[in-house]
Amino acid sequence: MYGTKTSRVVIIGTGFVGSSYAFSLINQNITDEMVLIDLNKEKTEGDAMDLNHGIPFGYPTKIWAGEYSDCKDADVVVITAGANQKPGETRLDLIEKNVNIFKGIVGAVMDSGFNGIFIVATNPVDVLSYATWKFSGLPMERVIGSGTLLDTARLRFLLSDYFDIDSRNIHGYIIGEHGDTELPVWSQTRIGSELIYSFMEKYKPDGKQEDLDSIFVNVRDAAYHIIERKGATHYAIAMGLARLTKAVLRNEHSILTVSTLLQGEYGLNDLYIGVPAIVSHNGIEKIVEMELADDEMEKLHHSANVLKSAMAPVFN
Ligand code: LAC
Repeated sequence: MYGTKTSRVVIIGTGFVGSSYAFSLINQNITDEMVLIDLNKEKTEGDAMDLNHGIPFGYPTKIWAGEYSDCKDADVVVITAGANQKPGETRLDLIEKNVNIFKGIVGAVMDSGFNGIFIVATNPVDVLSYATWKFSGLPMERVIGSGTLLDTARLRFLLSDYFDIDSRNIHGYIIGEHGDTELPVWSQTRIGSELIYSFMEKYKPDGKQEDLDSIFVNVRDAAYHIIERKGATHYAIAMGLARLTKAVLRNEHSILTVSTLLQGEYGLNDLYIGVPAIVSHNGIEKIVEMELADDEMEKLHHSANVLKSAMAPVFN
C-alpha cells in the first residue's frame, strides 16, 4: 500500500514475459494487487494459484485470474500479449499480427472504464505503444513502452564487465527503435562522473573503440542470440517492466529510456521511440532531450524513418 490507496497492476498476457513479470512484482513488493488476464484462462488460474502459494516467502500481494472489468480500478495495465519473434524473425515482422491483437485488447481495457497508465512490452514495442496511444485515446503521457530500457541495461551490464565497474555506475544510453536500428550514445556515456573516452585513457589504456563497437553489436543482437538458444527472452525484460512499474507506482521521477511519443524533440514528430524520459505516477513527466553528436542524431533519424515506414501501411 503506497500512500493512501491500494495499488493494482493488471497483466494482459501470461506467457513467458507476463508470468516472469508477475514473479518479479511479488519478489520486489511492488504492488498490492495483481490481476492476470490471458486467452488461456486455465493458465491464469494456474499461475495465480502457483504465485499465491509463494506469498509466504515473498510479500503480501492479492493475486487473481481476472477479467477485463478488473481494469477499471487498475493503476497500471501492462500488455505482454501477442505473437513473439521466432528464430530469424525481426520484431517489425510482427506488426500486422500484433496491431490487430492490440485493437481488441486496448478496446476491451478502455470499455472497463480504465483511467490509469498503459505499459506496453509486446513487440514491435514502439509501434504497439503508438497503437495503444491511438486506440485508447489517452494522453500520450499515460502510454509508455518498455522501449530501449532493456537495451540500456544490456549496454550497462556489458560495459560493467568490460571495465570491471559496478553496472550502477555505468551511465550509458541506448536510444531509438527497440530493434535493429537502435544506437548507443557514446558521446554522453559516463563511467561514474568521467566521460567514457577519458575514463578509458586513464584506467583502461588498452581499451579500443572496436571493443565498444562489438559490445554494442552484442547489445543490439542479444535477443536473437537468446531466442536461438532458448526460444524466447523473458527474465530481463520482466525485470525492466518491474523497474518501470515501480517508478510509476512510487512516483519516483526516475529517468528511464522508455518508448514515448516525440512531438518535436530531436526534430521528430508523431512516433513512439526509445529516449530518456522522467517517469512518475502521471506516466511520462518530461522527455529529457540529450545533446547528440551529429552521427548519433543521423542514426536516430534513420531509426525513426525505419519505424515510420514500417507503420505507414498500418496507420495511414
Ligand atoms: C528482447 C525482447 C524483449 O530484446 O525484445 O529481449
